[in-house]
Amino acid sequence: MVCLGNICRSPLAEGIARHLIAKRGLDWRVDSAGTIDWHQGSPPDKRSIEVGKGHQIDISGLRARKITSAELDHWDMIITMDAQNYQDVKRMNPEALEHKLHMIMNFLYPGQNRPVPDPYYGGKKDFEDVCQMLFDACNAMLDELQTARKSV
Ligand code: 4NP
Repeated sequence: MVCLGNICRSPLAEGIARHLIAKRGLDWRVDSAGTIDWHQGSPPDKRSIEVGKGHQIDISGLRARKITSAELDHWDMIITMDAQNYQDVKRMNPEALEHKLHMIMNFLYPGQNRPVPDPYYGGKKDFEDVCQMLFDACNAMLDELQTARKSV
């Protein structure tokens, strides 16, 4: 799960995805990172921690980091929050990422390239909206991945 700072959206996406994966009895791994290193080592934004807590999801132990080109091979999928994150990651290795880089809202609204808006300069409502979008998008993503798995 990739956003810009790895303190607002992607840590929440990591926590939500992990929660839903466990609820489905799967053993898939999830991590998150940012495209910039400005918040390297910092915990998630307090507002993301709070909104997660409201759903019994504890992300307070996560620490921000910047995505590395070395890990691009490691993951089966790399999921970005908006078009800027998508372009920034894609630029790191356009060939290797051809089929595994996605914008998360496209699992809900295929082909529309809708963003999960950056809530950093927003208020509580913006974080709640982001949380709801991430729940819906992660569920749609897991539905799709589980269906794809069953058919192979
Ligand atoms: P995120 O939000 O990408 O969802 O973690 C932001 C965090 C920090 C900044 C911007 C967006 N920043 O400008 O420092």
